Amino acid sequence: MSRVAYVNGRYLPHGRAMVHIEDRGYQFSDGIYEVCEVRGGRLVDERRHMERLAGSLAALRIPAPMSLPALGVVLRETVRRNRVRDGIVYVQITRGAARRDHAFPAPGTKPALTVTARRLDFARNEAMAAEGIAVITLPDNRWERVDIKSISLLPNVLAKQAAREQGAREAWFVDSQGRITEGASSNAWIVSREGKLLTRALDRRILRGLTRTVLLDVISAQGLKLEERAFTVEEAYAAREAFITSASQIVMPVVRIDGRPVGNGAPGLIATALRRDYHAHAEIA
Ligand code: PDD
Repeated sequence: MSRVAYVNGRYLPHGRAMVHIEDRGYQFSDGIYEVCEVRGGRLVDERRHMERLAGSLAALRIPAPMSLPALGVVLRETVRRNRVRDGIVYVQITRGAARRDHAFPAPGTKPALTVTARRLDFARNEAMAAEGIAVITLPDNRWERVDIKSISLLPNVLAKQAAREQGAREAWFVDSQGRITEGASSNAWIVSREGKLLTRALDRRILRGLTRTVLLDVISAQGLKLEERAFTVEEAYAAREAFITSASQIVMPVVRIDGRPVGNGAPGLIATALRRDYHAHAEIA
């Protein structure tokens, strides 16, 4: 089955889905994006993704290319045309195509909207969760507004590649005080020696992950203890459990940090239970 992408008003074969060479996303990474999980052919937490997308556009002063309900229709249509049951839908909006100049283009320049959808290997993800993943830590060298979901991801790209080259699946960024901020494409969590869940409080140094948001409800429903505060690399090394959250990985247990086993080196009971219950708390429409 051939893949289809939405590009500025048209559904095109994936291989011929192109944007202009002077698109500001291509030249300046002047744009924003969202990744939404698809489960059973339906969008997971669409409302929250749309809210965050609107916030990212407002923060960068990019006009919305269409209303949010209309965008929801495009997302669903892209999922349908690609026959995705379990996977992700990716939406990207840039400030549009214009003659190259760093400052904003003339008012009225149309923002560019692209949407793609693809299947994720459900069984492979489950197998990975049953085994757990390794992470490495490295200095957080990103700009100070990573709370905006912008497509400017060069430090994240380099961090993820460094992780892959060291046999790990994720890189955790560390701030100048030795505290973990978040992963290259996920939020970071540990379960402390005392059995308390720790994740950094929302500030401009992390993305407000929507999986993180929903997981707070799961944690409260399971009656677990939670503290939203930054934790150090040392605390992570000494943790009972560790895991990451993102729309594509949900709750993914971490079993090694910088080559050291976390707890007994196997996925933790808390992470596993949170992963199991997650979708009962998400909005699936
Ligand atoms: N990444 N932090 C960063 C830097 C991220 O890129 C992501 C998501 C998250 C988790 O956000 P959410 O729970 O809303 O997916 C945190 C997406 C999945 C990506 O870039 O592919």
